[in-house]
Amino acid sequence: METVAVKASKAYQVEIENGALPTLGTRVASLLPRARQAMLVSDSTVAALYGETAERALREAGLRVHRFTFPSGEASKTPETLCTLWNALAEAGLSRTDCIVALGGGVVGDLSGFAAATYLRGIACYQVPTTLLAMVDSSVGGKTAVDLPAGKNLCGTFSQPVGVLCDPLVLKTLPFRIYADGCAEVIKYGYIGDPTLLQMLETSFIEAPEKVIARCVANKRDVVEADEHDNGARQLLNLGHTGGHAIERLSDFSISHGEAVAIGMLLAAKGAVAKGLCTPDVPTHMEKMLQRYSLPIRCPYGADAMAEAALADKKRRGGEITLVLPKKLGESVLVPMPVTALADFFAAGGAKA
Ligand code: NAD
Ligand code: GLY
Repeated sequence: METVAVKASKAYQVEIENGALPTLGTRVASLLPRARQAMLVSDSTVAALYGETAERALREAGLRVHRFTFPSGEASKTPETLCTLWNALAEAGLSRTDCIVALGGGVVGDLSGFAAATYLRGIACYQVPTTLLAMVDSSVGGKTAVDLPAGKNLCGTFSQPVGVLCDPLVLKTLPFRIYADGCAEVIKYGYIGDPTLLQMLETSFIEAPEKVIARCVANKRDVVEADEHDNGARQLLNLGHTGGHAIERLSDFSISHGEAVAIGMLLAAKGAVAKGLCTPDVPTHMEKMLQRYSLPIRCPYGADAMAEAALADKKRRGGEITLVLPKKLGESVLVPMPVTALADFFAAGGAKA
């Protein structure tokens, strides 16, 4: 088993172990000895695959288990689903000492975390991520959210979970494209600040992902401990995301988040080289790495459209945008840039002029 200890405003462990799902109940019960009831939150796909195993494990540890299941997909990450979940928690009579167990990908994790942070002004949330992205990113660090029609993740809280359990065996049922999405986030940690991880990724980790997941979680832990509330260093986690969000939006979300981040990382690296901010080996290395994990590398959109879409982000303010740019292999930095220079930067990075 790999364990990563996180010491943010709340301390907790991320445990990574093949075949650990049936031990979920004993882990939750030992962390929360006063809990009598658990709300097991899942989406419809994950509930069908792993809901029964998780429920049994919680029941056998002495917890009364309630289930809340919603349709899979980002379209469910809404205030409406959140409100239905709040009502389900109240109807089940969960008290301050009870807990939510979030079994699923980032959508389940973000929604459950938000519900737990706000129901009765805060109950415990235990995360059981079932996608690679959720294991290496969204289940750790305490960002919770729902989407609004005006944009993604516009309502949420910073609320750390009480614990995280990753069972990499559940990744075997992930559709290939969703696995590849998670690989983009794994690769991202290497270029942000971990040259050793880049070496580990030279050989595909997909058959035995435990150590790579632990390494990514440790990277995320370091950033979150340095800047839990996202005022500085945590923005490094957005490598590839300025271009990536623009690509997602321009493709009307037919290009997935991970695919868009992959293209966005390469744009950032090539643009940084063109501006003399990065060593030229980085984009070459990155291109091979992304292709090794079946991720796309070509930007299908023009620089002006990309800049316009990137600047439409409702959370951005003012005349400057902070880009995350690779500086050398295994190191990235935050670089403020006037918004008027963004189209030129994307063109330098390989978007069509
Ligand atoms: P997701 O939760 O929608 O899961 C993707 C798909 O995989 C879903 O259809 C789901 O049903 C299915 N699935 C999940 N586990 C499975 C398994 N083991 N086997 C088969 N199918 C499975 O998407 P995601 O990529 O996990 O997460 C994306 C969400 O995470 C977005 O809403 C994003 O905003 C959020 N996010 C949050 C943070 C954070 O720090 N809180 C970080 C990154 C992303
Ligand atoms: N995934 C971005 C963050 O946690 O800040």
